[in-house]
Amino acid sequence: MMSKILVTGGAGYIGSHTIVDLLQNGFDVISADNFSCSVETVFDGIEKITGKKIANYNIDLTNLEATRSIFDQHKDIVGVIHFAAFKAVGESVENPLKYYHNNIGSLTNILKCVDEFKVANFVFSSSCTVYGNPDDVCVTEKTPQKKAESPYGYTKQVGERIIEDFVKKSTATKAFLLRYFNPVGAHPSSHIGELPIGKPMNLVPAITQTAIGKIPKMFVHGSDYDTRDGSCVRDYIHVCDIASAHTLALQYLIETNEIHNPEILNLGSGDGVTVLEAIHAFEAVSNQKLHYEFGPRRSGDVVAIYANNNLAIEKLNWQVRYTLKDMMKTAWDWELKLKENK
Ligand code: WQD
Repeated sequence: MMSKILVTGGAGYIGSHTIVDLLQNGFDVISADNFSCSVETVFDGIEKITGKKIANYNIDLTNLEATRSIFDQHKDIVGVIHFAAFKAVGESVENPLKYYHNNIGSLTNILKCVDEFKVANFVFSSSCTVYGNPDDVCVTEKTPQKKAESPYGYTKQVGERIIEDFVKKSTATKAFLLRYFNPVGAHPSSHIGELPIGKPMNLVPAITQTAIGKIPKMFVHGSDYDTRDGSCVRDYIHVCDIASAHTLALQYLIETNEIHNPEILNLGSGDGVTVLEAIHAFEAVSNQKLHYEFGPRRSGDVVAIYANNNLAIEKLNWQVRYTLKDMMKTAWDWELKLKENK
């Protein structure tokens, strides 16, 4: 009997790649996604890779009755992976209440249902933004959290605390909080990948859309930081490595009996890479010069951060399989595929 997992935000970037990994590891998966930050054709891509059709519930998770109806119809859900959230840092600064209502409201509704239906395993999509601008740039899970740089980041800090308080009093639910660093790249099949809506804010889609001519040029936000080449340092991690960690986390929870505080894990490659190094890696892979200029710093940007990922590797027996070159190649192949399918 395959264990059934509810993935919220299943049509999203990380959600879709995680569904593929879950299916390929023998799980049964249903999705809840209202396509506010994604498109329904993503499920066609999942089917092309796995041969499986995903049942998706197009509902607003801030509506408790609608959320509960999913659990009512699927009383055999053994785990929930909660991705569904708005995640544009800049937009969250412009419209904080939209972020607090959606990200916190949907989380509390899901947890109410997890509690009511005694779902034993819960995995939360958190983010390295919970660290803010860390004093020590190589962060462990114990690195003290600074004030979040944006309302988006704050919804992740608050979300973690809500889950900790819930799990402490729960007699049935165990949880993992997975803190992603910078997920990039696409599935090697090029059937699914990142689909930024509108002008890309994140680095790698900005690179590939500039390279393919969707946008005329891109700007490097700041070249005067105290880093090895003046541009910001991040920990880029392939989205398929992020996906495999979710499957491993669920398998760990299912096999673990003791109820405990949520396990917190950093999901990063463990390597700090500057913006310019990322651009040069892309140029080497695509064999073309990227049209970029140096622009002013972007407010809210962390100067440098990358993960100490030892705990995730040890606890989950997780492996970071994709290199920076793989990240750029799969991102570029995906951009080329999007152009081909236009
Ligand atoms: C990376 C670096 C930019 C675009 C955010 C969220 C994080 C996660 C990933 C959700 C920065 C620079 C970017 C461009 C540039 N999202 N850059 N020119 O800000 O580290 O993280 O996205 O979970 O939570 O905070 O990612 O890709 O936007 O930026 O120079 O056109 O690339 O300034 O230094 P970020 P990013």
